[in-house]
Amino acid sequence: MQVGIFEATVGLTTDMHDRSILRVLAICGSLRAGSSNRALLDAATLLAPVGVEVSIYQQLDRLPAFNPDLDTEVPPRGVAEFRSALYNCDAVLISSPEYAHGVPGVLKNTLDWVVGSGEFIDKPVAVVNASTRATHAWKSLTETLTVMSVRVIDDASVTVPLDGKRLDGSEIAANADLAPALMTAMKQLIGAVRVRRP
Ligand SMILES: Cc1cc2nc3c(=O)[nH]c(=O)nc-3n(C[C@H](O)[C@H](O)[C@H](O)COP(=O)(O)O)c2cc1C
Repeated sequence: MQVGIFEATVGLTTDMHDRSILRVLAICGSLRAGSSNRALLDAATLLAPVGVEVSIYQQLDRLPAFNPDLDTEVPPRGVAEFRSALYNCDAVLISSPEYAHGVPGVLKNTLDWVVGSGEFIDKPVAVVNASTRATHAWKSLTETLTVMSVRVIDDASVTVPLDGKRLDGSEIAANADLAPALMTAMKQLIGAVRVRRP
């Protein structure tokens, strides 16, 4: 298993109660194996400063279609796992494609499951965009997060123009034209956490 990558359950890599580590949950809106958004998040794991752990969540397909009737005292397993991951992180980094000018259904579905449960409230979030064209979904996603009382950090919500470049995480992290924007996003996001938790 790749160190720092969230694979199936929560807390596989480090002690969840170690308060010296700042945890960023990175959520990929694409399920595609060769996803450019996933590559961007892989790059974020490589560029994370010492003391910051970025764990990638790409299991959006584990959550069933949102149905309030299923949201009982014992929610579906995938939902419980996602809520736990969200609860245990200090900040969230989202990178998502745009489909038909909208947010991918799996990502919106995931957000619907945490509208009422509260883990996302006041959490600092960077919404990074891997495409210069995907402006509708970015705007819609930002609006949804804002109405959910998530703290969207504007200075951390940058565009990293991958636009069909087909780079992997290491190549993005080593690219002098792309890495600085992602590093800025991370720095601003971490700064937003530290304002509240010096
Ligand atoms: C069904 C479908 C609809 C799409 N709609 C849009 C769109 O409205 N706007 C856009 O900029 N790109 C659109 N795209 C392109 C994807 O956003 C693009 O391929 C992106 O890189 C996919 O993300 P991924 O590489 O992380 O899987 C669409 C792709 C698919 C498959």
